[in-house]
Amino acid sequence: MDLILPLPALLAVQGVIAAGLGQVMGLARWWLPINLVIPAAVALALSLNLPSWVYPVVFIALALVFWNSADDRVPLYLTNRTTWRTLQDLITRESTRKGNDFKATDVGCGLGGALLYLARQCPEASFVGIESAPLPFAIARLRVALSGLSNLSIRYGDLWKQDLADYDLVYCFLSPEPMPRIYEKARAEMQTGSLLISNSFAVPEVLPEATLEVEDRRETRLLLYRL
Ligand SMILES: C[S@@+](CC[C@H](N)C(=O)[O-])C[C@H]1O[C@@H](n2cnc3c(N)ncnc32)[C@H](O)[C@@H]1O
Repeated sequence: MDLILPLPALLAVQGVIAAGLGQVMGLARWWLPINLVIPAAVALALSLNLPSWVYPVVFIALALVFWNSADDRVPLYLTNRTTWRTLQDLITRESTRKGNDFKATDVGCGLGGALLYLARQCPEASFVGIESAPLPFAIARLRVALSGLSNLSIRYGDLWKQDLADYDLVYCFLSPEPMPRIYEKARAEMQTGSLLISNSFAVPEVLPEATLEVEDRRETRLLLYRL
């Protein structure tokens, strides 16, 4: 006897199977709702009868943004404004302490929003953004060109190939995966007394000098590692 399910039920069953398999295979919990709704989203997209070129175009655009997700396990998400202000306070404190010629970098700077804010608010310091995802890099570069700021530049490149020796402060908002490696890189290259700041992700088995709790809705923590 054939079992014929109505389409919504079929899509729901597919979603539940995909979500279940995802959990069994060790995907993070936030994949659960995504896997649940993907079959229904595909059916909805097909019902819209979009021209077929839309799909490769969307795929390429997503690949250009989420360039580092598969390899470095770092997707694009952005530091929020409240955290920008906390970073500003930190940079003001650190640059006053150093005196002059204070240099900071955001390794994996995304769309450059944090750096644009910091470069405006801290004209005494200079900033470099490094980004290897083509679309965010192009957007960040364009924003900096339009801003007219002379104390901020954006470089295209792999953060692992950048020398961190010149920087008094390195900011990163990456993911749990690269934290041991970025800490080792900072320790090998940065000057004694300089600062590595990680948004949200701790270096396993390393005690930060301080942890700042930002008063935002996502309860951001900034972990400060003094080299
Ligand atoms: C979570 S986002 C943070 C963006 C920005 N720093 C902010 O806080 O708003 C991480 C960024 O790091 C970039 N990234 C990841 N691995 C990288 C690598 N090896 N070299 C350069 N950029 C990288 C990603 O493309 C992404 O734009």
